[in-house]
Amino acid sequence: MRPEPDTERAHPGLLLAFEGVDGSGKTTQIERLVEHARGHGIDARILREPGGTKLGEELRRVLLEGPGVEDALLAALLFMASRRRLVTAEIEPALARGELVILDRSFVSTWVYQGVVGGVDAELLERLTREVHGAALPELVLLLDLDATAARARRAARAGEADAIEKRGNDYMDRIGVAFREIAEARAPWIQRVDADASVDDVHARCLRVVEPHLEALAERVVR
Ligand code: TYD
Repeated sequence: MRPEPDTERAHPGLLLAFEGVDGSGKTTQIERLVEHARGHGIDARILREPGGTKLGEELRRVLLEGPGVEDALLAALLFMASRRRLVTAEIEPALARGELVILDRSFVSTWVYQGVVGGVDAELLERLTREVHGAALPELVLLLDLDATAARARRAARAGEADAIEKRGNDYMDRIGVAFREIAEARAPWIQRVDADASVDDVHARCLRVVEPHLEALAERVVR
């Protein structure tokens, strides 16, 4: 399952996703990329998963507040439901207008958390992903790869309470990190691993090396 080649583009826009364990720096790096894109004359829209729509935010509460959802298949279906609404209500229209859309987490999290680690069948998740995204599939996914100890330290330094998934503990988070790496390796170059154990500026530069060709192509399509 790969995005279509350029000649067969279904839309003029660009959909990117950032992934990584909790504490890997996704939000900061997305903000830096948005600033950079603005320099190219491109406005970006950030959408978070789960969430980004009214239904998505309700499902986010169910999935992440209080006890969360223990049943991995049920959780996968709810994450997919949130994603489907996000695709039809926000992503497809934005891509049709030629916009840059950046996802803070994506289907890759479902493949990792509910799939590899939660035990939900990988083929089922891939099939659902294809149906949920249709032609609006991320063109590139950046995996911010940070080792478990460093991610733990960043989470500990962060204000706010751990959500239902973060509360599952260190062993769980270690397995998540390993699963992300395996999936990125199996799906490269679509999913690109970026070493995130460096300063914000250095990680930003590493992200740009991967993203820049996609941004330049977008700018050529839409910026006059
Ligand atoms: P969030 O607060 O967005 O975490 P972060 O700031 O680390 O991105 O919480 C999202 C949590 O939901 C995170 O622990 C990963 C989990 N998750 C899944 O288990 N499956 C999914 O499909 C998605 C999108 C997230």
